[in-house]
Amino acid sequence: MSVPTETGAAGAEGGGAEASGLGREGVLVILGGEGMLGRALAAAAAAAGMACAAPRRAESDVREGEAVARALAGGVRAVPGEGRIGVVVNCAAATDVDACEREPERADALNRRAPERLARLCAERGIRLIHLSTDYVFDGSKAGGYVEADAAAPINVYGATKLAGERAVAAAHPGALVVRTSRLFGPGGRRNFVETMLRLAREQAGVGGAGAAERLRRPIEVIDDQWGSPTYAPDLAGALLRLVRETEAAGVLHAANAGTTTWYRFACRIMRTAGVVAEVVAGEAESARRAARRPANSTLDCGRLAGYGIRLRPWEEALAEYLRGRGGGGG
Ligand SMILES: NC(=O)c1ccc[n+]([C@@H]2O[C@H](COP(=O)([O-])OP(=O)(O)OC[C@H]3O[C@@H](n4cnc5c(N)ncnc54)[C@H](OP(=O)(O)O)[C@@H]3O)[C@@H](O)[C@H]2O)c1
Repeated sequence: MSVPTETGAAGAEGGGAEASGLGREGVLVILGGEGMLGRALAAAAAAAGMACAAPRRAESDVREGEAVARALAGGVRAVPGEGRIGVVVNCAAATDVDACEREPERADALNRRAPERLARLCAERGIRLIHLSTDYVFDGSKAGGYVEADAAAPINVYGATKLAGERAVAAAHPGALVVRTSRLFGPGGRRNFVETMLRLAREQAGVGGAGAAERLRRPIEVIDDQWGSPTYAPDLAGALLRLVRETEAAGVLHAANAGTTTWYRFACRIMRTAGVVAEVVAGEAESARRAARRPANSTLDCGRLAGYGIRLRPWEEALAEYLRGRGGGGG
């Protein structure tokens, strides 16, 4: 069944918007609520006192229209006293960029067809929809940050299916908001660059598990020729809640922590901030030989978001908070 995160209490999130009982706002339903961003959003909604339901994946497979329709109905029932859905935030997606290259049909089902069906469903029911997308819709050839109006030209299956999903959502639900973000890190993610780096550092130091030893005595090689904005999932979640509560934003919007960096520089900053000594060397994308190509620069310009008075702090500050929250060091 659907799982209400919490209801009732007034909270601080929302940048001055009044925390309200949801009679006014309606229930916030999160699809993909077990993923990194979905969890952060559910936590932020609970802290803000918003009525929120995050149906489990088993009960809300976004590839099945019936299941989603049931999940939306269940989302309301899960929150006692609430009669309607205020907004659906779709965090469900195929997010493993290399796996998408190998399984384009699955990527298309999750990243295009599912959001299209969801958008139709929401439009028919008059439900506001926020759909998450990615900086990987860009080809990386621009110098500087990408604005929403820049031409999208994805160079991998993930980006292509996410872009197709954006367009399908906009066509089916003109009032929908597509939020593009990038390089998420935070608690609970399966693919979390920060945790991967700290694990590699532990292994390098000989603290890894069995089998780690021989991998480890090598330096950690990290790509230094792809630029983008690391984004802390809880910061993005806070911004999403503010968009829900304070704006009527529709169309496409970029939302990422301020600043840009390469994966290598990000890795060095992680080690420094965590107080971990590790040998990290700069590599080139060319030598990484991954299934999917990545844009050389996919930094997002978040000026449109700032126009709503919403600015995410520099990624370095968010990283420091994340590392403090998990105990600071590399362990
Ligand atoms: N992570 C990033 O660096 C990044 C960067 C740019 C944009 N984004 C976008 O941000 C959004 C959230 O990303 P995230 O990092 O939170 O992703 P995530 O951790 O991979 O979460 C995605 C969630 O979708 C769920 N899901 C997969 N197939 C589903 C299905 N058929 N029905 C229902 N749920 C299903 C997954 O469940 P399972 O775990 O069970 O498969 C998972 O809980 C996505 O739209 C992504 O494209 C992410």
